Amino acid sequence: MKPGIEWRAPRADAEAAQFAADLHAALARTPKAISPKYFYDEAGSRLFEQICDLPEYYLTRTELALLQRHAADMAAQLGDRVQLVEYGAGALRKVRLLLAALPHERVQFVPVDISGPHLLSACDGLAADAPALDIQPLVADFTRPHTLPPCPAGARRVGFFPGSSIGNFTPAEADAFLRLAAAELAGGGLLIGIDLVKDHGVLHAAYNDAAGVTAAFNLNVLARARRELGAEFPDDGFEHLAFYNPAYRRIEMHLRATRPLTLHLDGAAYDFHEGETLHTEHSHKYTVSGFQAMAARAGFEPGAVWTDPNGWFAVLWLRSPAVP
Ligand code: AVI
Repeated sequence: MKPGIEWRAPRADAEAAQFAADLHAALARTPKAISPKYFYDEAGSRLFEQICDLPEYYLTRTELALLQRHAADMAAQLGDRVQLVEYGAGALRKVRLLLAALPHERVQFVPVDISGPHLLSACDGLAADAPALDIQPLVADFTRPHTLPPCPAGARRVGFFPGSSIGNFTPAEADAFLRLAAAELAGGGLLIGIDLVKDHGVLHAAYNDAAGVTAAFNLNVLARARRELGAEFPDDGFEHLAFYNPAYRRIEMHLRATRPLTLHLDGAAYDFHEGETLHTEHSHKYTVSGFQAMAARAGFEPGAVWTDPNGWFAVLWLRSPAVP
């Protein structure tokens, strides 16, 4: 990693103003709906880490097992002289399994994440454990146009997007991301983790855990609005609601009003009737062939697929043909 990476934190008041503007818009629309990105403040990120270790939440451990078991095969698809771009890199837990199967001196690793402090501290930890690896962190919103470092001579650019994070995008956002990735990974490809359609009971349990951690994660959006923006609403005014919607093949998370109530924000009043919800997240589930077809429309060609014995989760290699 280059010493002294320059990065200036966006001002906290600018972030709060954006949250306030987005929350006003979310509460004013019908049906009420807000972006899931507001889950992930300090408290929400800690709750998400706890979710990943829950017995009901099979996604993380199933993908980790796939990466552990098949890292060598996956690395063989990537190639042995690569610029490896991780989208939404976070704590770098999963990519370490992949990097263990790659020759570090022939890899440039470019983790991209919007959260600068977390990214840089994760990179420090990785640099200490993998001194031969060239790490070039990029603090950016990877869903928007961004500039990657130039690909080193003789290397090809490959992407890594684990966690079924693409499931939290709307179909239009997923399509836009895949198109952007196919263009910037032309001549290489993308290794992506996706959660698969399965028994509805298994899905329901994963988003309605017995310990109530997912409920706390969901409710944290409004707790955060209270902490950061002074929003006012009754303590027991909202409850967690998560269900599988088969028509859209997605888990939907909502915050449901337990009774008629009013949420006050900056002098504005937003009424909820009993049972009315604020939609907080989609988590789309795919079939392998359905996802490959969506990726093909964005410019990728289907490659190898790794899945667990239950067929609950898959890691897909998608090739992006070189531009002639
Ligand atoms: C980050 N993302 C893939 C998680 C998911 O399963 O959709 C977020 C999550 N929401 C509730 N539990 C976990």
